Amino acid sequence: MQIVSVVQQKGGVGKTTLAINLAGELSRRGMRVAVVDADPQASAVAWAAPRKLGFAVKQELLSSGTVSQWLRNVLKQSSDVVVVDTPAGLGTVFRAAVDVADVILIPCGPSSLDINAARNTLASVSSMLRADARSEARVLMVPTRVDVQTPEGQQITDELGALGESISPAMSHDIYFVRAFTQGVSVSVGAPASKAAAEMQVLADLVLQQLGKAVA
Ligand SMILES: Nc1ncnc2c1ncn2[C@@H]1O[C@H](COP(=O)(O)OP(=O)(O)O)[C@@H](O)[C@H]1O
Ligand SMILES: [Mg+2]
Repeated sequence: MQIVSVVQQKGGVGKTTLAINLAGELSRRGMRVAVVDADPQASAVAWAAPRKLGFAVKQELLSSGTVSQWLRNVLKQSSDVVVVDTPAGLGTVFRAAVDVADVILIPCGPSSLDINAARNTLASVSSMLRADARSEARVLMVPTRVDVQTPEGQQITDELGALGESISPAMSHDIYFVRAFTQGVSVSVGAPASKAAAEMQVLADLVLQQLGKAVA
């Protein structure tokens, strides 16, 4: 079992949207996947409430136990891949999610404020990984909610690229991502012909490569 953690110190950048739709795409490919919702706001759990996702979304709050208990609960999931969705911030949950991850996704919106937050988040992730000699975790920056019609949308990939980490192709600002939440599905299922679904396929390929798995 391998773990993909989605982290960002800033809220509203698309962590939950990324976590659910990545899991949705992997599930569509026939992989056994689960989402661990470590955010007390429980948005991923709410996404799953209509019971249409086709994979498990399990709430595991760190506040209810110790970090080691939380890690055990995450590792207990019987899946090929577990996607961990986290709250905003760089606190204990963030650290536990980075600790346990094989791949760390850092979503980043297109504004300067977003890029500052991504830079800070990456700095924290990098210092944690440097401090843990055993860690082979990979980091992938994911530009999200990008409108390529705007200069900001065009610049974000360059600015994120300057941070020196791997960067995925941008996820567009796309109403299908919003609608997927309303419908309780992932874009891969709810709008398979959409740009959003095509973008999730590219991201899933990249994540699988980073996990060292054959692209399904
Ligand atoms: N690529 C996107 N296109 C359009 N809206 C998006 C996209 N990603 C996220 N959103 C919307 O932005 C808001 C915040 O996203 P969310 O995934 O909840 O962020 P976070 O988990 O980081 O707080 C939600 O209303 C969501 O529907
Ligand atoms: Mg969220």
